[in-house]
Amino acid sequence: MLHISYLYKNYGKFQAVNNLTLHIPKGDLFGFVGPNGAGKTTTIRIICGLLPATAGSVHVNGIDAFANRKEIKRQIGYVPDFFGVYDNLKVKEYLEFYGSMYGMGTEDILKVADDLLELVNLQDKKEVYVDTLSRGMKQRLCVARALLHNPQLLILDEPSSGLDPRARVEMKELLMNLNSMGKTIIISSHILSELSEMCTSIGIMNRGQLVMAGKIDDIRDHMNADNRIILSIENDVEKAVRIAKEHAGVIVRSVRENELIISHTGSTRELNQIVKQMMDQEIVLSGFHKEEGNLEALFMQLTGGAS
Ligand SMILES: Nc1ncnc2c1ncn2[C@@H]1O[C@H](COP(=O)(O)OP(=O)(O)OP(=O)(O)O)[C@@H](O)[C@H]1O
Ligand SMILES: [Mg+2]
Repeated sequence: MLHISYLYKNYGKFQAVNNLTLHIPKGDLFGFVGPNGAGKTTTIRIICGLLPATAGSVHVNGIDAFANRKEIKRQIGYVPDFFGVYDNLKVKEYLEFYGSMYGMGTEDILKVADDLLELVNLQDKKEVYVDTLSRGMKQRLCVARALLHNPQLLILDEPSSGLDPRARVEMKELLMNLNSMGKTIIISSHILSELSEMCTSIGIMNRGQLVMAGKIDDIRDHMNADNRIILSIENDVEKAVRIAKEHAGVIVRSVRENELIISHTGSTRELNQIVKQMMDQEIVLSGFHKEEGNLEALFMQLTGGAS
């Protein structure tokens, strides 16, 4: 769906995007995460044809984005990180205005506007002035606007910033719903944990570079390799250690009188088998605790603690 290759963007001497290569397949809900100034907005604006790149290429559905700006705008729905002022414009008129900018006729716009307003849960606000909407409502209206021309790729730049927890959940549900309807979605944020709940893949950007990218499950598995599993053992810790060591993928971290700490790179099923084997051999387990990987800690480590 989206191929970015060797992308660079310089502002004077400053390198805002530095050799970015990224492939996002169709159907992904991709989280683009990084601290302030990482280069997310710059990258997004280049993809959408709003900012020229210094070097590199961007293809959307096989179309060269730099050579076909007009066509690219048809392929992409863009929700920017700011919302303008719209004095004296009602919700319905706002969609008509943007639809006409996409070259749509009034009839076509009205046909899709009702469905879109229902999708973003603003069906009751059609005749309301845009400037009187809450921030969360404005963000959802922006999503409706970006979907008017039925793009296959939807790109949102920090759609949750400034939203209260309830509005964040509504935005998350809306995006997951759109993704299940087949839209490929890219969403940027500062907060990895917020993205990890909804995204299928993530990319972490720092100082213009992509420092990690992949499927969220693979990243979790990778982190789980370092996770500690704490076994509280009432009787024979030494025997429990011997059993644990028989299994590939187990690293014994520490052994105390009533406690064995291991880490395990295998599956949950394998871990269950280890525990079962211990119990079959009369080990009395009084506690089992698995520490989950902390995505936020990983993010801090990769971005040098900057925020
Ligand atoms: N027009 C510009 N001229 C000069 N420097 C710029 C310009 N636009 C952005 N920059 C710089 O490029 C870097 C990347 O900015 P960008 O807005 O892409 O980051 P971001 O990841 O979107 O950050 P944020 O999370 O704060 O939105 C920043 O250091 C910024 O100061
Ligand atoms: Mg930004």
